[in-house]
Amino acid sequence: MNFFPERQNARQPLYSLRDLTKEFDGPGEKVRVLHGVSAEIQMGESVAVVGASGSGKSTLLHILGTLAKPGGGEIFFCGENLRALDADGAARLRNEKMGFVFQFHHLLPEFTALENVAMQAIIGGTARSAALKKAKKTLEQVGLAQRADFNVGMLSGGERQRTAIARALVQKPMVLLADEPTGDLDEKNGRMVADLLMQLNADQEMSMIVVTHNPELAGRMARRFELKSGELYEQ
Ligand SMILES: Nc1ncnc2c1ncn2[C@@H]1O[C@H](COP(=O)(O)OP(=O)(O)OP(=O)(O)O)[C@@H](O)[C@H]1O
Ligand SMILES: [Mg+2]
Repeated sequence: MNFFPERQNARQPLYSLRDLTKEFDGPGEKVRVLHGVSAEIQMGESVAVVGASGSGKSTLLHILGTLAKPGGGEIFFCGENLRALDADGAARLRNEKMGFVFQFHHLLPEFTALENVAMQAIIGGTARSAALKKAKKTLEQVGLAQRADFNVGMLSGGERQRTAIARALVQKPMVLLADEPTGDLDEKNGRMVADLLMQLNADQEMSMIVVTHNPELAGRMARRFELKSGELYEQ
């Protein structure tokens, strides 16, 4: 595997997708979700994926994040064939190069914001004290320094979502994969999270692929795709 920046060819696209397909076993017939998704995403780009409920957006995001395998087609991340990765390689890639934000934050409520964020770095092999330091810095970045020692159960919805973003960022990923990051938030907190994402994309050149029903958030991304009838159309 060669997921190390010094060995990355800067001209490689971040993602190259060719005719990706995916189907699931349903109770009766098979459910065909992706019929042939092709796209090329460059490093540093911000991309919105919109589409009706059930159109396959989360399925696509899971495939991009190596959390699911496609049925057919090809997927390359920085020139590396993701279909050829084994489970350990995929886990390492996710931890080091990808950040995930889900609609519902999936934080551990009995741990503090700081511990939730640090855990990601500890899993990645960082020593505990260094991980806590990194986590603190990342929480500052998302404006949550004052809440670092609060249990996640004591945080507001917007604060939890920002903690989840900090957790996704602590390993300085190349790409942030976000599924409805503002879906559970009111307008004010939704805008705060959107501002934060745009700022990270601009300042850190972190690429991001964001599934969203929020037209304002989608409108701020450099590129917008609609997933429709199992195919991806650039708008
Ligand atoms: N594990 C699974 N087994 C069977 N069918 C599945 C599975 N996961 C997803 N599907 C089906 O695939 C289709 C696409 O699901 P997906 O979650 O990707 O949609 P989505 O675009 O993210 O929808 P939403 O906007 O509601 O989140 C749905 O019809 C769903 O029923
Ligand atoms: Mg979904």
